[in-house]
Amino acid sequence: MMTEEIGHIRPRNLEAFIVKAFMHHGLSEDHANSVAHTMIVANLRGVDTHGVVRSGSYIERFKLNLVKPQPAFKVETRYGWAHAIDADNGMGPVVSDFAMKKVLDSAESHGIGGATVRQSNHFGAAQVFALQAAAQDCIGIVLSPASKSLAPFGSMEPLFGTNPIAVAAPAGRHAPWCLDMATSISARGHIRIAARRGEPIPEGWALDDQGRPTTDAEAALKGVMLPFAGPKGSALAMLVDMMGGALSGSGYAGTIRDMTRDFETPQDVGHFFMAFKIDAFMPVPEYTARMEHMIATLKALKPAAGFDEVMYPGEREARLAAKREAEGIPIPFETRKVLVQLSEETGIALPEGLN
Ligand SMILES: NC(=O)c1ccc[n+]([C@@H]2O[C@H](COP(=O)([O-])OP(=O)(O)OC[C@H]3O[C@@H](n4cnc5c(N)ncnc54)[C@H](O)[C@@H]3O)[C@@H](O)[C@H]2O)c1
Repeated sequence: MMTEEIGHIRPRNLEAFIVKAFMHHGLSEDHANSVAHTMIVANLRGVDTHGVVRSGSYIERFKLNLVKPQPAFKVETRYGWAHAIDADNGMGPVVSDFAMKKVLDSAESHGIGGATVRQSNHFGAAQVFALQAAAQDCIGIVLSPASKSLAPFGSMEPLFGTNPIAVAAPAGRHAPWCLDMATSISARGHIRIAARRGEPIPEGWALDDQGRPTTDAEAALKGVMLPFAGPKGSALAMLVDMMGGALSGSGYAGTIRDMTRDFETPQDVGHFFMAFKIDAFMPVPEYTARMEHMIATLKALKPAAGFDEVMYPGEREARLAAKREAEGIPIPFETRKVLVQLSEETGIALPEGLN
């Protein structure tokens, strides 16, 4: 559990530290920048599970030769706007940054760009890449299958991963609209915490090892996690598997390796990226006025019992990012441990505030 915040670190200092650490492990400065930027944006926007805390496990896989620090990407471009990319087993954030840039270049000239990526690795928080599209007057879509942990609707066996979906769109004077969600109902970590505390889990999160719904956290750990919203979440998890896995030529149908458990084989993660220009459909000022009106209408709704306000997707994250830009990124004990180990291994001084 990530508790006991022990300090707030300036985002740029933390980013510089991560860049140096990854360069120490063989990445070019450009690639190390992609990795650090992806993690820092995740931390700024409150996705701390996919922020700098991941650096330890990412680097562990370099040491085991399971990820290449200097991959040679291969790109096949078809129809002028679609790119089938082979990541050569490089880091997920690096090839994803590369792929989204190619997609956005194509969107500039064709109004639309798309990319599949195969032979990649865990890329972190999907919104980081979708937001790159929103910054260029595009709507961006990002999908990526993960190692299996969820039973499809009607099954008691895992097949899909937590398979995230992100969509980002410009929202005029507001922060970008940004949906970014796993298709699991909950992370397995929450069940582990409940089991440790002897607490029940909500109905619908998991099945026991006999395929029966359970609220017993221990029984759930022996069983399987479920997608959100029954057959609908299950269908979306499969959509991600289809587009990011089957279509990309990477792992699908349960074959992606778990980066925290399999230390023998590359992960074989795939991704799917797409972006299209707003002005392919409507002049940007008209779209912007309509988005602003939509958000104003939503925010003017009367909050339900237990709510102070109605928020749109991405609003909470943008607010937190502004706060963390100003006050620094909070570093809980577990994350500090990871960064201290990284500093000790590489001889790179910890960022100010952590030392
Ligand atoms: N790389 C991978 O394999 C992988 C796998 C799973 C998840 N992830 C990442 O984990 C992160 C967390 O996913 P999650 O499903 O736990 O996200 P979440 O449940 O925190 O949020 C899901 C969505 O709901 C919106 N939201 C949340 N609270 C809201 C509110 N009060 N009002 C309006 N909108 C609200 C958020 O803006 C977000 O778009 C994501 O960044 C995802 O990409 C990555």
